Amino acid sequence: MSAKSGQESLAINGGTPLRTEPFTTWPVHGEAEAKAVMDVANSGKWWRCAYSADELEEKEEGQIEGRSRVEAFEEQFAKAHKAKYAIAVTNGTCALEIALRAIGILPGDEVITTPYTFIATSKCIMNQLAVPVYTDIDPTNYNMDADQIEDLITPKTKAILPVHFSGNLCDMDKINAIAKKHNLKVIEDAAHAHGVEYKGKQFAGTLGDIGCFSFQESKNVACGEGGMILTNNKEYYDLCYSLHHLGRLPGELWYKHFHLAWNYRMTEFTAAIGLVQLSRLFEQNELREKNYQHLMNGLSQLPGIRVCQNNPDMTKHSHHLQMLMYNSEEVGGIHRDQFVDSLNAEGIPALTGYTFPNYANPFMTSEETGARYTAASISFPDYSEYAKKCPITERACYDESIWLEHRLMLGTTKDMDDIIAGFSKVIQAYQG
Ligand SMILES: Cc1ncc(COP(=O)(O)O)c(C=O)c1O
Repeated sequence: MSAKSGQESLAINGGTPLRTEPFTTWPVHGEAEAKAVMDVANSGKWWRCAYSADELEEKEEGQIEGRSRVEAFEEQFAKAHKAKYAIAVTNGTCALEIALRAIGILPGDEVITTPYTFIATSKCIMNQLAVPVYTDIDPTNYNMDADQIEDLITPKTKAILPVHFSGNLCDMDKINAIAKKHNLKVIEDAAHAHGVEYKGKQFAGTLGDIGCFSFQESKNVACGEGGMILTNNKEYYDLCYSLHHLGRLPGELWYKHFHLAWNYRMTEFTAAIGLVQLSRLFEQNELREKNYQHLMNGLSQLPGIRVCQNNPDMTKHSHHLQMLMYNSEEVGGIHRDQFVDSLNAEGIPALTGYTFPNYANPFMTSEETGARYTAASISFPDYSEYAKKCPITERACYDESIWLEHRLMLGTTKDMDDIIAGFSKVIQAYQG
């Protein structure tokens, strides 16, 4: 077949798509979610504060009926992740903001993190007028390059904020050792890492000082919006609880507020859905793992595709995203974006991922943002410099990364075979 006729076979050029059936949609939901929401609606108790102290005291472990769903969700999420304490909040972004405030981040402090993440990771730092400092990412897995952290530490550095991107654990042994050596706190952004197990005994979100999860619609536990804070430290728990509750303290007057804080309380409706979603999590993660093995066996054989390396300390993965690295040189010089458009036309849903590194978003270099820091006499870094400092991140965003969503791995073996066949068809067509 000539190169031209190969490309003519592609659906993007008018050929027949490889697949027209839909893949599994997300969120997976059913009668259980609907009943959970209706039960809350019919109870007339729509926020956690509708439950009196007496009712809270009468609860039994695992009990849901007759008690605050928010409290039950906290208890069950903590238990599932072997954490001592949990606080349910309105989203993952505010979970991170609370965590940073709780460890004492002040304006002008520096927090070392990754630029290859959702913007919330940087915004939670900047919303406190603190300064994100970025490592580049590891080319084998797109997590923060822990080997670069020490060189970035200054007297202003107060914390490290690793993101378990795609659900793949960061090198927490290295990160925690550096934090200990330099007296830094560690906040884990575990927004992608529900049920991710470390060395068979601990979970993502409990490996640093405080861990933060998101339940936004795309996440492996989906509530539309929502978040959870985990910690094993009672002082942080008490402070985070107060910070999400307008600075109130238990046993004190309702209108007496002890901290500069927010109202980030989760609703009973959100928690009711969260409880059902959580009950599905580990079984779904097992199915994702099974399909992932089959999918990666196939995709790793193909030219132009490199599969992400998993952290060997990880004994359970969430597969929130399956990361692939694309090399156009092996696929006839076709750019990643055209390659992904071609896959989509074949009926294979693939994504190109983050459009920009965090530091390249317009607000990072805007006058408006700069003015806030200047008003507080904090020198504002020139984030346009980071493009030179983070070549792997640049490559990932603009040329290399391909994401497959976790919902795809909730399908059948045939679904996985179709994905492999779709990649294979497009690669062969462009190779000529
Ligand atoms: C890595 C990461 N961190 C933080 C967040 C923020 O979570 P949320 O959207 O619930 O505010 C998200 C998700 O949206 C995320 O992907």
